Amino acid sequence: MPPNDHNDRDRIYAQARDYVSEFEFDESVARVFDDMISRSVPGYRTVIAMLGVIAQRYSRPGSTIYDLGCSLGAATSAMRRHLPFDDCAIVAVDNSPAMIAKARDNLRTQHSPVHVSFRCEDIMTTEITHASIVVMNFTLQFIEPKDRFEMIKKIFDGLLPGGVLVLSEKIFFEDAVRQNRMTELHHAFKRANGYSDLEIAQKRSALENVLIPDDISTHQARLELAGFRTVDVWFQCFNFVSLLAQK
Ligand SMILES: C[S@@+](CC[C@H](N)C(=O)[O-])C[C@H]1O[C@@H](n2cnc3c(N)ncnc32)[C@H](O)[C@@H]1O
Repeated sequence: MPPNDHNDRDRIYAQARDYVSEFEFDESVARVFDDMISRSVPGYRTVIAMLGVIAQRYSRPGSTIYDLGCSLGAATSAMRRHLPFDDCAIVAVDNSPAMIAKARDNLRTQHSPVHVSFRCEDIMTTEITHASIVVMNFTLQFIEPKDRFEMIKKIFDGLLPGGVLVLSEKIFFEDAVRQNRMTELHHAFKRANGYSDLEIAQKRSALENVLIPDDISTHQARLELAGFRTVDVWFQCFNFVSLLAQK
């Protein structure tokens, strides 16, 4: 990513608010998003870097790679850098105009023969075809729970045999003790990255009805029901995981 996208520090919830409205991926969030996600999601940079490794391993010549909920294009950029086939194409989708505009800008300076098309649309309407890799990096958690199976099934149907879905998510633990422990560790991570207790509390309340995490067994069962042959947790840090599901 170009340096300007690293510079804006997230102070969105730094001042006390009378009323905390629902979180939106609008212009103010897009402006600070790289800083926000890096300081809020433990392991985010590692996950992005490993998407490059996964893309190198699982891409197929002439296939399409989808980045669903691409935000500023970090996953697209990492995969594009490592793709061994020039005739692959990447489709990067987000329904936030501010995010897509910045993603397009960020990728403009990256030199690569791999074509990227950006689409500003709801991923529920995105047609998936001839895919070797589909990435949903911390995006399914923002889709209505009732629509999640349909989304996963559509991805499965659009993947080539042997194709993979990388699904990264914040997860919820049924066991209350474990849920509290992981939530505490996540908040400690945010505090260590400079967020105040006020920022943590206000952001949490903004996300309350917007980011709805599933537990790991719900994810695994849904992927298996959709038809995925294997489902592996390849990354976990506290209450954040990434799964690799192969068709
Ligand atoms: C946490 S961010 C994803 C981060 C990004 N994948 C990355 O690796 O940096 C979630 C993104 O999903 C997008 N999003 C949420 N619901 C969506 C939907 N129904 N259709 C398209 N994009 C959606 C948001 O606008 C936001 O940019």
